[in-house]
Amino acid sequence: MVSTIGILGAGRVGSAIARTALTAGYTVHIAGSGPAADIQLIVDIVTPGAVAMTAADAVATADLVILAVPLHKYRSVDPATLAGKIVIDTMNYWQPIDGDLHEFTGDARSSSEVVGDYFPGARLVKTLNHIGYHDLEADARPAGDPERHGLALAGDPETAAVVAEVINRFGFDPVYAGSLAAGAAFEPGSPIFGGRHTARELLIELGPAVAEAA
Ligand SMILES: NC(=O)c1ccc[n+]([C@@H]2O[C@H](COP(=O)([O-])OP(=O)(O)OC[C@H]3O[C@@H](n4cnc5c(N)ncnc54)[C@H](OP(=O)(O)O)[C@@H]3O)[C@@H](O)[C@H]2O)c1
Repeated sequence: MVSTIGILGAGRVGSAIARTALTAGYTVHIAGSGPAADIQLIVDIVTPGAVAMTAADAVATADLVILAVPLHKYRSVDPATLAGKIVIDTMNYWQPIDGDLHEFTGDARSSSEVVGDYFPGARLVKTLNHIGYHDLEADARPAGDPERHGLALAGDPETAAVVAEVINRFGFDPVYAGSLAAGAAFEPGSPIFGGRHTARELLIELGPAVAEAA
């Protein structure tokens, strides 16, 4: 069971996820790229209740890790620390921010599959990437609310089921899309990315194979 969430990235997405996780009752450990002292003030003000740590400590103490760093910086995260961990990949390839990254533009696979090569021991699940950071708290709704939105997940089914419960507690209906390859269906440029969808609408966008399996 997940009780402590470690977030790598104390920027826009990491902070919004931290607040959402705190509201959902999780313990939150959060890190930037440097010492905890570098983000202490911002954590106190922006994500009160979260504990600022180094990245190594945030990962070591977490039941689940959330990668919320710019994609062009993912290799600054030590892959050895993530071995065996459940890890959510929120990262998107966004050229204006990330620059030209041939390893992604030159690879037909989903970005999470490419990232997964660098974190071979991590149990990677792609989600939380297709909702804007500003919508995460605004759109969260209790289970059963007719206005509740869905969030797609891609990864191995067993790990995705653990992450699905977290997404549910965050206030969204988790919609399993398939293996990490299926994450391509909700990357930037897809109809799902940046839109607001109910779980049913997401299933339709993801296609008949997913809808039939659901
Ligand atoms: N913006 C959105 O609405 C949105 C939505 C969904 C997903 N995403 C994805 O979320 C990711 C983060 O986006 P953002 O807008 O939150 O970026 P951001 O505001 O620039 O924040 C990035 C954070 O990552 C930290 N960081 C960099 N390298 C790190 C490392 N090795 N370990 C720990 N922390 C590290 C930075 O810390 P330092 O300042 O110390 O370098 C900073 O706190 C991106 O991949 C983006 O594609 C964005």
